[in-house]
Amino acid sequence: MVEVEYQMINTIQKPKRRSRKRKIPPWNKEICEQYWEDHWKNSSIAYLFNQPDPEVFKLLDRIKRRGIKKVLDAGCGLGRHTAVIAKMGFETFAFDRSEYAVNYTINKMQSLNYKSEVVKGNFEKIPFPDKSFDLVIAYCSSIYLPLEELKQAIAEMHRVLNDSGYLYITFMSTQHKEYARGPMLEKNTFFLSAGNCSLIPHHFSDKSEINRLLNKFDILASKEKELMFGTEIIPESFHHLVLARK
Ligand SMILES: C[S@@+](CC[C@H](N)C(=O)[O-])C[C@H]1O[C@@H](n2cnc3c(N)ncnc32)[C@H](O)[C@@H]1O
Repeated sequence: MVEVEYQMINTIQKPKRRSRKRKIPPWNKEICEQYWEDHWKNSSIAYLFNQPDPEVFKLLDRIKRRGIKKVLDAGCGLGRHTAVIAKMGFETFAFDRSEYAVNYTINKMQSLNYKSEVVKGNFEKIPFPDKSFDLVIAYCSSIYLPLEELKQAIAEMHRVLNDSGYLYITFMSTQHKEYARGPMLEKNTFFLSAGNCSLIPHHFSDKSEINRLLNKFDILASKEKELMFGTEIIPESFHHLVLARK
């Protein structure tokens, strides 16, 4: 069953053009919050979110030498990267809007004997004071925000970063197989055409939009690539992985 569901993710057929039959699903912040709660509680593929993306290892390894101490995992989900951050010796903080995910991450960190502060919170108002962190990681977490909310989230990440702090953030690419396949909420924000995730909006960005969104940062490195669960590549799941500095 689990395998079937995972295979479905990888084999979602591209409709030839956007389905005109599907309407925009009912959507608001409460629905999104409930979506993530249910997603983590019930998902048979949640276990995949226990395998960190090797890119995050590489980033942390590179950045370790730059005097980084305090790291925030923003939208931590089940804490697969939170655990890596702690394992690599950083002071570790995390938040997520899903209570289930927060409790799961807290339990995971305790069982691994890693120190961390993991709290329930929203990108709208990140639950930490100004200039708290040397690095904020938003891996596949701010991609679910329509443009104005995404701008607010980036402003919040800027606020909680120390001067010269680093931001590592992913954006869904307009080259992603799901770009413009499902119902459109606004320019570049779509519901997916199929699967569980089709109930919540996803925002897709190109390089010029990323430059505009991160205009208060210096972009140090950026690559566009398919996402990975551990060593498994998700075909045509193109995302921009961006390292920027305040
Ligand atoms: C696909 S998961 C990624 C989780 C984690 N970063 C990882 O790589 O495993 C997206 C996470 O973002 C969280 N999220 C989405 N919108 C959020 C918001 N506005 N505020 C806080 N967390 C949010 C969800 O609850 C979910 O746990």
